Amino acid sequence: MEFQLNDEQKLIQKTARDFAVNELASGAVERDEKKIWPREGISQMADLGFMGMMTDPQYNGGGMDTISYALAMEEISRVDASAAVVMSVNNSLVCYLLEKFGSQFIKEKYLSQLATGKKIGAFSLSEPQSGSDASNMRTIAKREGENYLLTGTKNWVTNGINSDFVIVFAITEKGEGHKGISCFLVEKGLDGFEAGKPENKLGIRASDTCELYFDNVKVPVENLIGNEGEGFKIALATLDGGRIGIASQALGIAQASLDASISYSKERIQFGKPIAVNQEIQFKIADMAMEIEASRLLIHKAAWMKDKKQNYGHVASMAKVYASEAAMRASTQCVQIHGGFGFMRESGIERLMRDAKITQIYEGTSEIQRVVIARALLK
Ligand code: CAA
Repeated sequence: MEFQLNDEQKLIQKTARDFAVNELASGAVERDEKKIWPREGISQMADLGFMGMMTDPQYNGGGMDTISYALAMEEISRVDASAAVVMSVNNSLVCYLLEKFGSQFIKEKYLSQLATGKKIGAFSLSEPQSGSDASNMRTIAKREGENYLLTGTKNWVTNGINSDFVIVFAITEKGEGHKGISCFLVEKGLDGFEAGKPENKLGIRASDTCELYFDNVKVPVENLIGNEGEGFKIALATLDGGRIGIASQALGIAQASLDASISYSKERIQFGKPIAVNQEIQFKIADMAMEIEASRLLIHKAAWMKDKKQNYGHVASMAKVYASEAAMRASTQCVQIHGGFGFMRESGIERLMRDAKITQIYEGTSEIQRVVIARALLK
């Protein structure tokens, strides 16, 4: 067993860390406060090859392994979790899905643009009445000649506003449950396709989230991904990989919480001594470090299993539920260690706690991850 990163992985980790610290850090608090999408940062991430890291180079991707992707996600998230989720959705929910399930036409026309990061993708599964119960959707796609007519509403769509292409799941066969769901790639700008207003969120405020509305949108039949009826399995198989990305996002937030807690507790003097001499502070730091280490091992194990083409879905769920809950605890303790200063917006500390919360919710709540884990063990 080898616990060391290889040279390529170390280089990606360093590149991502340097980029995040030098380019993303200074504006992160302001972008969060004012809900400013990190356009410049995303364009630089595209230049670094971070928007299609695992995609085959024949479609302009980086051809890297999933551990490299997890490392880059962790480093970006350590500084700016909003920029990181834009990257995560494009990589693991859009490029991965198109490469694994798309036709040659789809890969050449769309994946090759998305993997460069010059175009941005979104993934729309949830609807007002169907979040965790994802197959209970109402959006329909009715075949008419060489098109499908798509009608319905999707919500909580990350990149919904700033994307060029959107993956949409819709019912093509009513009454068939999940077997009646199909997957489409829909271009922005088609008649009847509109994005709603940006949601006003607790965290990851610099990323955009919105509703998407489809009113008889004409989607060409070539934009069906996989076969009719395969959409739900495509969604779940894609989310398995997406959960490694979100676990890595949570890990980055937790690591940032630990870094800030260590440096502040050594500097902050109370009762004539740095607060780090207090056992109460030391125990908080030790717990954070322990949970971060365990999260990282689980994430890298899930990523390694995915690359080895093993059945990794339940391990990705373990990584996500563990890392996201660890991030919530670490960021809450980090605010506690920083006291009143940590509660102030300009400290950048309370942002960690607000950003951590969504990692327990999107791409499957902690409760759904436990369902996935238990089902894998009990089957
Ligand atoms: N890969 C492929 N197929 C899978 C699968 C997987 N990981 N898991 C299950 N399936 C198959 C099953 O075998 C089954 O097929 P058969 O009927 O042929 O056997 C089919 O899919 C349906 O499976 P279930 O009966 O288990 O489905 P379910 O309705 O009980 O739901 C669930 C299972 C785990 C709860 C699932 O609905 C789920 O993961 N829900 C959470 C959805 C989610 O993560 N949403 C996030 C949306 S994206 C987002 O957050 C927004 C963003 O922009 C970031």
